[in-house]
Amino acid sequence: MKFSSKIEACELSPIRKFHPYVVAAEAKGRKVLHLNIGQPDIETPKAFFDAVKQFADPVLEYAPSTGVEAYLEAVRDYYAQAVGIRLELGDIMATYGGSEALQIVMACILEDGDEILVPEPFYPNYTTFIGVTGGVVRPIPTEPENGYRFARRERIEPLINRHTRAILVTNPGNPTGTVLSREELRLLADIAKEHGLFLISDEVYREIVYGGEALSSMLEYEDAAENVVVIDSVSKRFSSCGARVGAMISRNKDLMTQAMKICQGRLCAATLDQVGAAALYRFMTPAYCAGVRDEYARRKDAVVEGLQKIPGVRFSRPEGAFYVMATLPVDDTEKLQYFLLEEFEDRGETVMYAPGEGFYGTPGKGRNEIRIAYVTNPAELTRAIELLGLGIEAYNRKNGR
Ligand SMILES: Cc1ncc(COP(=O)(O)O)c(C=O)c1O
Repeated sequence: MKFSSKIEACELSPIRKFHPYVVAAEAKGRKVLHLNIGQPDIETPKAFFDAVKQFADPVLEYAPSTGVEAYLEAVRDYYAQAVGIRLELGDIMATYGGSEALQIVMACILEDGDEILVPEPFYPNYTTFIGVTGGVVRPIPTEPENGYRFARRERIEPLINRHTRAILVTNPGNPTGTVLSREELRLLADIAKEHGLFLISDEVYREIVYGGEALSSMLEYEDAAENVVVIDSVSKRFSSCGARVGAMISRNKDLMTQAMKICQGRLCAATLDQVGAAALYRFMTPAYCAGVRDEYARRKDAVVEGLQKIPGVRFSRPEGAFYVMATLPVDDTEKLQYFLLEEFEDRGETVMYAPGEGFYGTPGKGRNEIRIAYVTNPAELTRAIELLGLGIEAYNRKNGR
């Protein structure tokens, strides 16, 4: 049987390939501390489960293709009250998580060979979503030394050519933890407008920002309303990744009309999950968001403090989301990961992270970088970073460095 060249060109998750080695390490009685996954351990608000339990319709029907009305209204009201942005219900489409919103946008805008500019390092699934529709990721290069900042005209404009369709940014950033400033957002909107590009803004980590800044969204730039598409989700905001509810949001009516064809084709996003998600938005208060953010801030501080103690490790202090990219004093962080899982242990424990290379589009980049996800408690994170330091030392000693 033949498979499409588009799917053949896609890769399995760069993180999943270590799974058999984790199983083998655990079979030897080792405890593996995980810094590799973006699955938060914060409790999902009860409001979700209560709403699902109270659902009393006798038939679990298809929802409307654009979404359950209560969910769409809740998203609209959240944008008005928490972010200060007025939306119409027609600007919002319910999706299976931010993931489906990304897939729908790509299917609507890409022809074979079309390019999307994405600052690297980036969320690896972008490559899959873009690749299966025949598109190509064109990385906007960044450097760890300046905090992975990319939003400069001279960096972006030379990459734009007749195949370029969009700029895709993640704000706050996964894996970088970088938060775009108002000036950077404005510049991106200007570039998108001037060059007639879509500006896809993945804002699933919006609330998790550490600089005391007000919540922001690319949707604020109403003069770029035709260009901007926001990807949103309840996954991280409410620690409810399994709910599979997100949204594609745009004031570009033509784009929403095209997207409707896919939404109708797949009938609807899950009815009950949207009912629960609507309740989450209704339950949400500034105090809830501050509590979640402060918890991540404590975790960030534990990771930052630990990393500062490891000789030769370099990183930029994360400004948002729950990730940090770090450059390690080793030749290859994938080899270090195999070593940590197969050979290393300290008091029966070892550690796992996401090697940096999988977050880059440029071959060979990120080889001495890692992404750390700080989604467990500070004590466990402190120990995991300690293990990382000990592991680096043992690895370099073994390799005569
Ligand atoms: C940057 C980014 N975008 C989108 C997603 C997809 O999230 P979901 O489909 O759960 O909404 C993730 C998940 O980790 C992410 O990190």
